[in-house]
Amino acid sequence: MLEIQNLSVRYKGTNQNALSSIDLTLQEGEFVCILGKSGAGKSTLIRCMNGLHKPTSGEVFFDGEPLSTKNEEQLRNVRREMGMIFQHFNLVPRLSVLQNVLTGMFGYRSTFKNLIGWFSKEEIEQAKKVIHDVGLSDFIDRRVELLSGGQKQRVGIARAVLQRPRVLLGDEPVASLDPGTSNHIFMLLQEMHVQNQLLTVINVHDVTLAKRYATRILALKNGELIFDGKPEDFTEKQYQETYDHTYEISHDRPILEYV
Ligand SMILES: Nc1ncnc2c1ncn2[C@@H]1O[C@H](COP(=O)(O)OP(=O)(O)O)[C@@H](O)[C@H]1O
Ligand SMILES: [Mg+2]
Repeated sequence: MLEIQNLSVRYKGTNQNALSSIDLTLQEGEFVCILGKSGAGKSTLIRCMNGLHKPTSGEVFFDGEPLSTKNEEQLRNVRREMGMIFQHFNLVPRLSVLQNVLTGMFGYRSTFKNLIGWFSKEEIEQAKKVIHDVGLSDFIDRRVELLSGGQKQRVGIARAVLQRPRVLLGDEPVASLDPGTSNHIFMLLQEMHVQNQLLTVINVHDVTLAKRYATRILALKNGELIFDGKPEDFTEKQYQETYDHTYEISHDRPILEYV
């Protein structure tokens, strides 16, 4: 579904690769978590997957088609199939839950309709169903600025899901949330993943969450892929290689806690 061949990225004005010779094939149904220290290249890799960043060399294929040959309009069509959730939610604070979720429809509508903010009854029904799925029916008309962080991320997920993507990408979507809320958000992501038969790819700092929910873990270090395998094979040794230190008592929970 998503194939990455010999992908390297070097940002202008830097003398080191942000990503070096990455080879990966990701399939529908996989729930992939990407681990790595800050600066390892996680965000860059996600941005290359949806064509937001053009690789310095190598290629990303979506459904067998190279992204590098696509123009902006074709890339927008690709991105329409890839829902995205963000660390800081990227919602419109003064708009309601329903209005924010409806913006997930924008990719499917003409600019004129977007401008006048008109949505069909059917579109509103679809949005309400997704809001129900993420457990926010009681908050549907509330302005999102009044919601907790976990609720805001639920809105972010609902908006991405309403777009009916085939791929769901997340760039540290729980990095601003407490551990309990983060776990709930991952439970919801898993539910959406199964329900919508997605390929899900999430950058995450919390190794416990990755091991609990991922079907496959990738670890990046200095732009190189140093681990690609099953969650159960990501052990203390891999943790130490990835983060350059052993598990520290200051972490909230044991990093290799199994469920
Ligand atoms: N716009 C940019 N310009 C220059 N260097 C960048 C830019 N974005 C990221 N980098 C560098 O690329 C490397 C990977 O960054 P990033 O993908 O953001 O890592 P992560 O998401 O794992 O923290 C880092 O060394 C970072 O400093
Ligand atoms: Mg990042």
